[in-house]
Order: sequence, then C-alpha cells, then structure tokens
Amino acid sequence: MTDSHTIRRPDDWHVHLRDGAMLQGVVGHTARQFARAIVMPNLTPPVTDVASAIAYRERILAAVPEGMDFTPLMTAYLTDNSDPAELVRGHAEGVFTAAKLYPAGATTNSDSGVTDVANIRAALEAMAEAGMPLCVHGEVTSADVDIFDREAVFIDRILAPLIRELPELKVIFEHLTSEEGVQFVESAGPNVAATITPQHLHINRNAMLVGGMRPHAYCLPVAKREKHRLALRKTATSGSAKFFLGTDSAPHAREAKESACGCAGIFNAPFALESYLAVFEEEDALDKFEGFASRHGPAFYGLPVNEETVTLERAECTVPDSIDVGAAELIPFHAGETLRWRFAG
Ligand code: NCD
Ligand code: ZN
Repeated sequence: MTDSHTIRRPDDWHVHLRDGAMLQGVVGHTARQFARAIVMPNLTPPVTDVASAIAYRERILAAVPEGMDFTPLMTAYLTDNSDPAELVRGHAEGVFTAAKLYPAGATTNSDSGVTDVANIRAALEAMAEAGMPLCVHGEVTSADVDIFDREAVFIDRILAPLIRELPELKVIFEHLTSEEGVQFVESAGPNVAATITPQHLHINRNAMLVGGMRPHAYCLPVAKREKHRLALRKTATSGSAKFFLGTDSAPHAREAKESACGCAGIFNAPFALESYLAVFEEEDALDKFEGFASRHGPAFYGLPVNEETVTLERAECTVPDSIDVGAAELIPFHAGETLRWRFAG
C-alpha cells in the first residue's frame, strides 16, 4: 500500500468562481490544487464578449492569493444573439478558451442562455472552423420532461443531431451524470469528451432525499439513480482519454441553499483532489488518476500538460462542517466527513 500519490499538477476543466467578495473568498481554494481552470461565464450579467472576459480575468488574477500560481481559462456565454466574429476573435486573441452553451432556464444564471440551438448555428459553425471548443450544459428544459431524464433527452433531441451535422466541432459534455451520457460519449467520435464532478462519483439521488431534504447535495444536473453513478465511476477510472476532471464547484451562501427554493450547486473546491482520489482508490485505479486529472483535459483542449507535480498523502483529512469565505458561509461537499487522502501541495 503506497503512502503517497504524486501526479502532474491537475487542472479543473469546469469551475464557478463567481465575482466580487465571493470570488475573493473562493478562488484560493481552486488555485491551491489546480494550475488552470475553465471558468464558467454565468455571472450576472453573463460574460458574453471579449472585453468583459478580459476584465473578469483581471479580477480573478487580482483575487488569487499571494504565492499561488493559477491561470484562469475564460469562456464565452452563448446567447441567441452571440456574434460569431466576436467569439472567433476572442479565441484567436487567447481570451476565450471555449464557449459555453446553457439552454435557457437550465440552471443558475441561465436566463440569457440559448432558447434554440438553431439560433447559434452560425456561431457553432464559426467555432468548428476556428477549432474553438464548445462546453455544453446537456439538459433540456421542457416542462414535460422529468428532471431525472433531462440529460438523456438532451442527447436525443439536441446533441446527437448537432454532432452529426457538425462533426468537426469539439464538444465537451459538461458534468456528465447518466449512463446514457456515458454511452453517448464513449461511442461518439474523437471530438466529443466529457467532464465528471466528484459529487456524481460519490452520491446518488438518495443523498438528496433520504431522511429529509438535503439541499447541500443538490446540484444540476441532479444526481441520479445508483446505476448512473456506477457507470460514471467505471468510465472515469477506465483510463479513457475522453473523460476528465471538472469539479463544477458552485458556491452558494448557506442560506441561499437552505431555503424554500434552494440554489443548485455544490462547493467542492477545497477538497476536490482528496474526493476524486478516494474514488480512484476504491475502484482500484490509482494508476489512472493522473490521466483523468492532469493529462486528458489538456490533450483534448490542445494545451500543454503542467510541468509541476502535486502530492496527496495517505492521512486522515477531516472536512469542516462549514467554511467561512468572508462573503458567505459555505457548506463544502463531504462536510463533516473524514477522507483518506490529504493534499500535501
Ligand atoms: C451551477 C451554478 O451554481 O452556477 N450550479 C450547479 O448546480 N452546477 C451552474 C451549473 O453548472 O449548472
Ligand atoms: Zn457548472
């Protein structure tokens, strides 16, 4: 049994860093563990143009604690009115690493999202041509579709046709949560990959609903039945280069989650690597962890791997019940639990 596990420094391919005081409070938790992160653009107002992405990147860099080396990779929030030329210019200038498709109304701050993919067809064609990746929140929003089926229905109605029509477009299916999603990504061509969060590897929907309603286990896409969790664990730890780390860490103040209409999002940044590594150990796949955390993402995005390393030690690591980030009290994923690995830097 090894006592420590060293890998190339990983990146987080999906994170919400927010803005203002919340940004100040949370960015260090991500920068401590990850060299780079794909920063989601769902602010109010959303980050839709090059100038606002440059300004947001400056605010993030200014908030990174002294001595931490962290590169935010920016994304453009697609709307029905996205300008293809603006997206491609932002990508060419090294501002936009990717663009994010939020179906309107699918999740937190998605009201300005896309109401019909036909409306962004020209933007997607321009992105495919420019080699600019598309990050996708893969859920339909129709009231007639059950919330637990929204990912599978999105594949059939939106994503599969889109990929057939634009096979050159690089697509990252964000925060995959279902067996159908796993099968879709596995059988798609090399331009389709997916991120997987720690929570969807650890919990199924019982965590949210058994013994009382537990708002801190609620995120979108919602955790599903056990068979979906098992499919995700199998594929994440398989060594397939199509799957990589994306925490979807999404901080909301405790009172905004513990409410009659609680916000979706799990704050998992502080113990993200410890959480993922527990899964790889349980699946007897420690040797596959570096690929998932540090190699597959850069390979898909066409970026270099990080040169530095990080080490996790086999030691008990107790996750606090709550974390005060100044702007808010946040309840972290695994609150009150003891994990078996500890991030050593
Ligand atoms: C995210 C947020 O709060 O911004 N919430 C979540 O549950 N994951 C948005 C998102 O990624 O869906
Ligand atoms: Zn997200």
